[in-house]
Amino acid sequence: MSSVILSTKCVTKAYDMNGSRLEVLKGIDLDIRQGEAVCIMGVSGAGKSTLLHILGTLDQPTLGKVYYRGEDLTRKTDDQLASFRNRKMGFVFQFHHLLPELTALENVALAARIGGTSKVEAEKMALELLDQLGLKKRQSHYPSELSGGERQRVAIARALIQKPEILFADEPSGNLDSENGKVIQDLFFELKEKMGLTLVVVTHDQEFANRFPKLYRLKNGVFI
Ligand SMILES: Nc1ncnc2c1ncn2[C@@H]1O[C@H](COP(=O)(O)OP(=O)(O)O)[C@@H](O)[C@H]1O
Ligand SMILES: [Mg+2]
Repeated sequence: MSSVILSTKCVTKAYDMNGSRLEVLKGIDLDIRQGEAVCIMGVSGAGKSTLLHILGTLDQPTLGKVYYRGEDLTRKTDDQLASFRNRKMGFVFQFHHLLPELTALENVALAARIGGTSKVEAEKMALELLDQLGLKKRQSHYPSELSGGERQRVAIARALIQKPEILFADEPSGNLDSENGKVIQDLFFELKEKMGLTLVVVTHDQEFANRFPKLYRLKNGVFI
């Protein structure tokens, strides 16, 4: 069996909302192994995004620990985490979050440039990725000049340019029609194999979820 890449121990998340306390996660224990494809399901408001953000170090648990290959991530500083995320983790969200003033190529290259890669090299890598995702001819388009499916593919290319170990996706096909959604869903599994990724995906699409060997359901703050 492959090694555990990401794990949580007793992760809780609570929000204090004008006097009352909202407990969203109530003690999540999770082991994700290298190369696994993990799906997290649950109704709207169940805490799926909250958990994904904590796993991806975009948010901190109220209590509990997150470990990456045994290393306690909750002890790292914000700067350390930013650099760690840039190298090891890729993110795709329901809405593409591309920068409107940058072309597809520039959007994809940006993550590599932030990681210290030169402009020329970053754009070369970005073009290769866009080509792989069937978007070479769209490289100079701005997000407003792309279809929803194309924007999401650009967002996937951006998530992959630093060759992450783990790819997180939060409802990645939730904003697309079923045909384009299916293309995006297929792409995740194809890229997982090609790049040896570990996949952690949140969805409420049962058909998409059924394709994952491992499925967790969140309800009332715990897995059921
Ligand atoms: N920053 C926040 N402050 C207060 N409550 C929040 C915050 N973020 C999320 N919540 C609440 O936590 C619950 C879970 O949210 P979320 O993780 O986004 O659910 P899901 O992704 O499963 O739909 C919801 O009830 C939401 O209102
Ligand atoms: Mg959500």
